[in-house]
Amino acid sequence: MNRSDYCAHLSARDSGRKVTLCGWVKRRRDLGGLTFVDLRDSSGVIQLLFSGDAPDLTEGHTLNREDVICASGEVRARSEGNVNEEMPTGEIEVEVQALEILNRSLTPPFLVEGDGSDTTEETRLRYRYVDLRRERMQRNLRLRHHVFHGLRSFFTDNNFIEIETPVLTKSTPEGARDFLVPSRFSPGSFYALPQSPQLFKQLFMIGGMDRYFQLVKCFRDEDLRADRQPEFTQLDLEISFPRGKDEIFSLLEGALRRTFHDLLSEDLQIPFPRMTHAEALARYGSDKPDLRFGMEIHDISQIVTDSGFRVFSETVAAGGKVAGICADGCAGYSRSKIDHLQEIAVRAGAKGISFIKVKDEISSPLSKFLDPAIMREIITEFGAKQGDLILILAGQGIEQGLGDLRLAIAKEEKIAREGWDFLWVTDFPLFALDEQGHLTSEHHPFTSPHADDMEILEESPLTVRSDAYDLVLNGIEMGSGSIRIHSRALQEKIFGMLGISPQRAEERFGFFLRALEYGAPPHGGFALGVDRLVMLMAGEESLRDVIAFPKTTTGTCPLTDAPMPVDDAQLAELGLTRKI
Ligand code: AMO
Repeated sequence: MNRSDYCAHLSARDSGRKVTLCGWVKRRRDLGGLTFVDLRDSSGVIQLLFSGDAPDLTEGHTLNREDVICASGEVRARSEGNVNEEMPTGEIEVEVQALEILNRSLTPPFLVEGDGSDTTEETRLRYRYVDLRRERMQRNLRLRHHVFHGLRSFFTDNNFIEIETPVLTKSTPEGARDFLVPSRFSPGSFYALPQSPQLFKQLFMIGGMDRYFQLVKCFRDEDLRADRQPEFTQLDLEISFPRGKDEIFSLLEGALRRTFHDLLSEDLQIPFPRMTHAEALARYGSDKPDLRFGMEIHDISQIVTDSGFRVFSETVAAGGKVAGICADGCAGYSRSKIDHLQEIAVRAGAKGISFIKVKDEISSPLSKFLDPAIMREIITEFGAKQGDLILILAGQGIEQGLGDLRLAIAKEEKIAREGWDFLWVTDFPLFALDEQGHLTSEHHPFTSPHADDMEILEESPLTVRSDAYDLVLNGIEMGSGSIRIHSRALQEKIFGMLGISPQRAEERFGFFLRALEYGAPPHGGFALGVDRLVMLMAGEESLRDVIAFPKTTTGTCPLTDAPMPVDDAQLAELGLTRKI
């Protein structure tokens, strides 16, 4: 018996047709002499009716969840009282005339049709092949395919070509640890799995490929979160002779507009808004601000600098800031809720938190130190009304703390956050300081300094802006890119500022520095995190729900039990010995 149709493609129009269906038993019900079986395939579910007593039909009684069967029979309309409105094929059923049991299944570890509450994520991942039968996983992976297909076709239509880059390669600095692969031919030497194809795509530009893209796996050994996996997929791209970042922005806007239109019937407004990094930080306390709600940061340094309250005036005198946010309707927050907010701010580096509860009678620890007129001025600055809560931080670099408070309150108050809020964040700083106080790249070392800041590169490196940009969607970093350095001299200078000695630069990047001397064109590009994009498009909160075989937060794969110890013989072949 060969399949003639997919279950959910049948409708009342097919009544009277003879069909052969294949799939999994969703459930079986025996009612008197009749057996009803819901049959599931990748299209959906249909009801089968076993009513005869031919030997193979009596086997209908023996079917269990997830058995694989092939059934032939006639499509017929259900009688009026038996129509199931909840089921897309609820008007019809197939009266089975022949049944073949293709494979029996053990009792599945959880219900495929359930909402997942009968199991843990660990079990879902261990039996991922059963989990993948869920409608939700089928829908998510189909969406993922269509996003990939749409992006491939958009960039192909725009004269890009897809070229693969090596997986066994040399370390590329993207800020995470490398996954290393030992070499059998060169004992003691290791390949690194690419954190991104950054240098290869730049070499494509030097190689005259003009417009490159790739849907590519990247590998990063970093602490995992709901939106981070150790292996993930980027839409990576690079173009030569860009008309500034605008050309890259409009290509991505075009690709995303088409993808959202085709797959979600959403018409994105393009161009996407832009905001500089400095503005994003000052107004929202984040380099990936969620602009779907307000609660902007207000700087009240000027108001409080001469207030007589030493903590505030000394902060401002030392070049710090006093600033806050106003949470609508939160004046009723208890001490413990405010303590919790204080913990959030402290985790982000703040020393403490001050608050003003705007009620009939102002309630604030600041009342002891600040004049009523200044308190009124602060309240006016925030536009606070009766019932609002003003939260204030003072110090250096308090923006992130305020940004975290803003998000925590939005979550606590369940502030509506709807729609697709894309934002370009531009003009990132070129450098940041690492924990030891050394310069590190804010993006990566191949990013060009902003043309207007080239003169202050050495004199004031921390204020130099770069030609790097991020794309943010609903407060999540979707992708990032930059215009690149294309001169050896400047690349070497940047390496030097990052504390990479000429010898080390030669060791790690000599091949690339040489390439810059053989006719490197101006070039720039971008990488979009497609797992994150699909996650948001699918309405999911974890990358694990849009990746077929993801890793857990501890980097393990419950399905295969990877990573696994290897035996000593295998290690010896690689010239390695076990210490643990
Ligand atoms: P970047 O390191 O910012 O840039 O990465 C680009 C995008 O990749 C996604 N991403 C991740 N997704 C899931 N899990 C992870 N662990 C993970 N890490 C990153 C994010 C991120 O915005 N070579 C540069 C790009 C360039 O300059 O062209 C790069 O890789 O969505």
